[in-house]
Amino acid sequence: MDFLKFKNNKLSVNNIDLKKITKSKKTPYYFYSFDQLNKNIIKLKSAFKSSNPLICFAVKANSNIEVIKELKNKGLGADVVSLGELKLALKAGIKAEKIVFSGVGKSIDEIEFAIKKGILSINAESKNEIDLINAVSQKLKKIINIGIRINPNIKADTNKKITTGDKINKFGISIDDFYKIIKSKSHYKNININLLSVHIGSQIKDIIFYKKLLIVIEKILKNLKKQNHIVQYVDLGGGMGIPYFKTDKEFNIKKFGKMVDQFYRKQKIKIIFEIGRYLVGNIGAIISKVIYVKKTKDRYFIILDTGMNDMARSAIYEAFHEILPLEKNTKKFKIKVEFVGPICESSDTFGLYKSYPILKDGDFVCITNCGAYGRTLSSNYNMRPLIEELVIKRNKIKTVRKRQKIENII
Ligand code: LLP
Repeated sequence: MDFLKFKNNKLSVNNIDLKKITKSKKTPYYFYSFDQLNKNIIKLKSAFKSSNPLICFAVKANSNIEVIKELKNKGLGADVVSLGELKLALKAGIKAEKIVFSGVGKSIDEIEFAIKKGILSINAESKNEIDLINAVSQKLKKIINIGIRINPNIKADTNKKITTGDKINKFGISIDDFYKIIKSKSHYKNININLLSVHIGSQIKDIIFYKKLLIVIEKILKNLKKQNHIVQYVDLGGGMGIPYFKTDKEFNIKKFGKMVDQFYRKQKIKIIFEIGRYLVGNIGAIISKVIYVKKTKDRYFIILDTGMNDMARSAIYEAFHEILPLEKNTKKFKIKVEFVGPICESSDTFGLYKSYPILKDGDFVCITNCGAYGRTLSSNYNMRPLIEELVIKRNKIKTVRKRQKIENII
């Protein structure tokens, strides 16, 4: 998170001392740096400059409307997976013709709404769904373009809970079944298969999996040509990983951009991406207060006022999110330290440190890299209200979502 810096041992964003903001705010809260967001957009766009894809933001990564508006202002579209996300993207001002709709279980209401709004593509993930889309468009007296999501049978090296392109995953249609559908396309009077989509997983660090993916797609496009079927778009999904540890290697976006460019020149096809984490992962963090420092024989438990209900990634995926103190103490704890939340289960932990600067009750910490799948995975578990979200742009701070009221969730 380049935008977080220690100045005189005080953690700050754009020269604003985070502790000063925290004095007037109830913790825990999320904050997002728009300066970092804009840097990420520029980095991504420059990597794909020559293939000029439509970059759709995977709304599931961050559903804050101000974040989505900022992305829209920079020309991005949206990848949505529910009626709620579709309505949110439209409300943020993203044009329907820049929205793609993924997901294995779209309901009839969702399909009908998407068709009526005229979105760029509903990416179907089963034969039954294609049948339903065809029937709904017939009912609405329309002929629409759709996409088909292929399961390319590529097992990406990432947490097994977030691979999506392996044959054992529920996503997409196998390549053989896809050809069968193309062969029987004359049955579908109200749809035109105009897009091929894939998404092989999330937090993928090695471009080798994308290399394999492009080879699979090239082969499919070649076979489609033989069958006289032309698609206008290839949607390459998302999944590019970000570094969570200081020592983590970076996803080689430049090299990937070159690979995509070669593909683009050869295939002369319009490319779409559905990118979440790479755009927003490092823009957000949680500020939390130390409620108690509890010493046991084995370790110090730093009990925070934020828990797995606010940020579930550590509990679900055992993901590491570095925790920084808002004020760095030069003295260190003499034994190991574990950061935990107040939730009543042992999975409510944010990680163990062999050595850590001394903290005391009432101090504040920052949990880093929570901009993607942070707030969107949060819940009201233990009847805890969803927390406030702030945006920091240069030196301006704005609340964009207020903390929920307990009365409203009872
Ligand atoms: N497109 C589709 C169809 C997807 O299913 C996903 C993510 C994306 C795009 C965006 O992937 P990204 O660029 O963000 O990697 N909750 C997990 C991540 C789940 C990702 C699910 N699909 C986590 O916190 O790591």
